[in-house]
Amino acid sequence: MIFSNPLAGATLVFLLAAETGAAAVPLQERAGAGCGIVRDFKGDTHTGKTIESGGLQRVYDVYLPPNYDENMPTPLIISYHGANGNSAKQRALDRFDDHTWNPDHIVVWPNGYNGFWEGPTYAPPGVSDKKFTSDLIAHLRTAFCIDDARIYAAGKSNGGGFTGTLACSPDHGANFAAVAACAGAFYTDVVQDPNNSCHPSRSPFPILEFHGSVDGTIPYLPTKNGSGGPLPKIPDWLSTWGQRNGCAANYKPTVSQLNGDKTVQKTLYTCNGTNVVTGYLIDGMDHSWPSTTRNSDQDSHGDKPVSINASPMILDFFRGIKKP
Ligand SMILES: *[C@@H]1O[C@H](CO)[C@@H](O)[C@H](O)[C@H]1NC(C)=O
Ligand SMILES: *[C@@H]1O[C@H](CO)[C@@H](O)[C@H](O)[C@H]1NC(C)=O
Ligand SMILES: *[C@@H]1O[C@H](CO)[C@@H](O)[C@H](O)[C@H]1NC(C)=O
Repeated sequence: MIFSNPLAGATLVFLLAAETGAAAVPLQERAGAGCGIVRDFKGDTHTGKTIESGGLQRVYDVYLPPNYDENMPTPLIISYHGANGNSAKQRALDRFDDHTWNPDHIVVWPNGYNGFWEGPTYAPPGVSDKKFTSDLIAHLRTAFCIDDARIYAAGKSNGGGFTGTLACSPDHGANFAAVAACAGAFYTDVVQDPNNSCHPSRSPFPILEFHGSVDGTIPYLPTKNGSGGPLPKIPDWLSTWGQRNGCAANYKPTVSQLNGDKTVQKTLYTCNGTNVVTGYLIDGMDHSWPSTTRNSDQDSHGDKPVSINASPMILDFFRGIKKP
């Protein structure tokens, strides 16, 4: 049963979970029309779903966590594949559909148009993936019970760079509480370029990035253009996000070994009492999604499994952040 709270006006809606005997649960102020629709694939992934955006048919896969409750606003992660990739490949890499890691977030894996996301020169011209992302979120809000304060973006390489593009967008980034990238290709945010422009919708806008120290595709410290144009040095990109997020220009991040692990260096920017930027540098890793078990990235790049799994760390990072 849904009713308006006369004290707070029509926008604040309460839900009475009569069937479960639970107390009245305050719904998110802007919880969408998708709440209350019963779904038959909890714990499972539906593939090949489509929406129209910008005159194009766009395709995505969607996972519902096993404990999905159609009456409970649920966090959402949109996970973007790397260049020339697709949703199936990204699902196999991030394993955000692993019930142990992720019992609590809806995950959507969209497909880039012809396999790419906007930003690098190799992406198909005239396709707005920012607009597609906003259209996708608007659509998902009508289909599932999504918590608007807990929408996140994650991605690999071109897809990781695209999460940075979203974070820099005043309009299309405003949907997101935080973003996380693995081997991010930040073609749209070359912070060394004096003409670079990034207009985050809010500050702080928490950022997480994982990078291999010997990434040969998107180097940690690039010395020449990537295949899609100029790229930033990752430490400069992290530091610039620190400043965007309230750190002083002369702020020095805390650099440490992750839990004493010599192979993972953690760089943490804590400003105004909040962890606003986190970077992990994985020693000896090439262009891979960090994983303790073999994945397709490691096969492509001759990498070995590493000591951390990025995905549960990304999930933990997201769990700590809500959009204000
Ligand atoms: C920055 O933009 C100005 C004006 O468009 C242009 O003259 C200048 O060459 C640009 N600088 C760089 C480094 O691209
Ligand atoms: C690097 O990329 C920029 C932008 O695409 C281009 O203008 C420039 O010529 C490229 N530089 C080299 C050395 O290829
Ligand atoms: C962080 O704190 C400084 C100093 O108190 C303040 O000027 C700045 O606006 C704060 N930044 C954010 C993002 O809250």
